Amino acid sequence: MATRIVLSSDHAALDLRPKIAAHIQALGYEVVDIGPTTSESTHYPKHGQAAAERVASGDCELGIILCGTGQGIMMAANKVPGIRCGVCMDTFSARMIREHNNANMLSMGVRVVGEGLALDIVDAFLNAKFEGGRHATRVDMIEG
Ligand code: RB5
Repeated sequence: MATRIVLSSDHAALDLRPKIAAHIQALGYEVVDIGPTTSESTHYPKHGQAAAERVASGDCELGIILCGTGQGIMMAANKVPGIRCGVCMDTFSARMIREHNNANMLSMGVRVVGEGLALDIVDAFLNAKFEGGRHATRVDMIEG
């Protein structure tokens, strides 16, 4: 069965989110895009929390969220127990947050990265695997 990935954002990422959805769908992932669907100004915390709850509940295995900087929506997502979300602006970090931190969500800032880099960051995140071992000990310490 295809890995289910929840996507969400605030109004800042209304143009980029569908492009990421199409990209990961073409790679064979199942996309659960929970909006928003209009360009009306909205509040990133509620969208970050809603996406994080999909991952924390097990409905989706991974999440990708976007706002202007990626920072605010990441902060909201990380308030949900079980969520490990990092903001990435480069492909190395996107790979490492999975290999070492077992991140289950990726956040990006659409006012920071362009479309091409954003899609490469998504690829780096999705292609990486958690290494476990000493990193599992540390991730367990985050979970408390
Ligand atoms: C919205 O203007 C902006 O504050 C938001 O997209 C994000 O950058 C917050 O972290």
